[in-house]
Amino acid sequence: MGRLDGYAALVTGGGKGIGRAVVDRFVAEGANVGVLTRSQGDADSLTEAHGDAVAPIIGDVRNWDDNQRAVETVLSRFGKLDTLVPNAGIYDFSDKFQNIRGEDLEARYREIFDVNVLGYLLAARASLEALRASEGSIVMTLSSSSFYTGGGGALYVSTKHGLVGTLRQLAYELSPEIRVNGVAPGGTRTGLGGGSGDARVLEDLDGYEAMVARNVPLGFLSEPEDHAGLYVTLASKTESRFVTAHIIRSDGGIEVRGRRRKRETK
Ligand SMILES: NC(=O)c1ccc[n+]([C@@H]2O[C@H](COP(=O)([O-])OP(=O)(O)OC[C@H]3O[C@@H](n4cnc5c(N)ncnc54)[C@H](O)[C@@H]3O)[C@@H](O)[C@H]2O)c1
Repeated sequence: MGRLDGYAALVTGGGKGIGRAVVDRFVAEGANVGVLTRSQGDADSLTEAHGDAVAPIIGDVRNWDDNQRAVETVLSRFGKLDTLVPNAGIYDFSDKFQNIRGEDLEARYREIFDVNVLGYLLAARASLEALRASEGSIVMTLSSSSFYTGGGGALYVSTKHGLVGTLRQLAYELSPEIRVNGVAPGGTRTGLGGGSGDARVLEDLDGYEAMVARNVPLGFLSEPEDHAGLYVTLASKTESRFVTAHIIRSDGGIEVRGRRRKRETK
């Protein structure tokens, strides 16, 4: 028996990284999963791995029609929608605020807010009726940058802090039919990228793994799979029936980092 037997879910940006780990885990727990992805290659890889248990939809999270099409695909393929996971995001690579040219700021702001915040709102809006009908839930990917500075630049940290408000307001407005929760990963080994024209990739950054390992009490860089079980718990109507507006931190213990790493006190 899987913990999500018979569930139907939709994951945005589920072709790679944390979203892909959530898709893999949901399928392993018995769910069918629609995946909104920009990449045909990722769509093919999902179908190869999971066959009819997945329904890839090619589209852009910034586009209302693509979000609607994704929900309609899940409903027509799987008959209902129990869980929405808004997850697609882009990064600013901790670019220092003073180094972003004033004339570039508006375009960079619009792109990262459109993907990281508008994308979540569009997916939630497109899913409302279906989630009400199933008394389902939303499980958002947030970030340690939803609570702490320094894990991104001013633009990324603004989007991820902003999503805390989005999550809390939706939890308030959509109750009692729809629960709204989140998982906030810390440093994770993924190919998280930047906006258009930015070729940088998070896992390729010099010293990234050592930096995360040095900065968290648990002392290692997490893998996407390390977070996936928490999404299952929050998606499950039996395991978290009385939980809404809650964010589970999966960040190696940043909050209790203190002045020194635990390892250095040994
Ligand atoms: N990697 C980390 O250390 C980390 C830590 C905390 C939170 N996060 C968050 O996790 C989420 C997933 O990121 P990841 O680290 O797995 O990186 P990733 O690049 O592996 O996954 C992000 C996915 O979003 C997709 N995407 C980006 N823009 C899109 C758009 N406009 N339309 C459709 N899809 C789009 C990408 O193609 C990719 O598949 C993001 O919201 C990110 O901010 C990542």
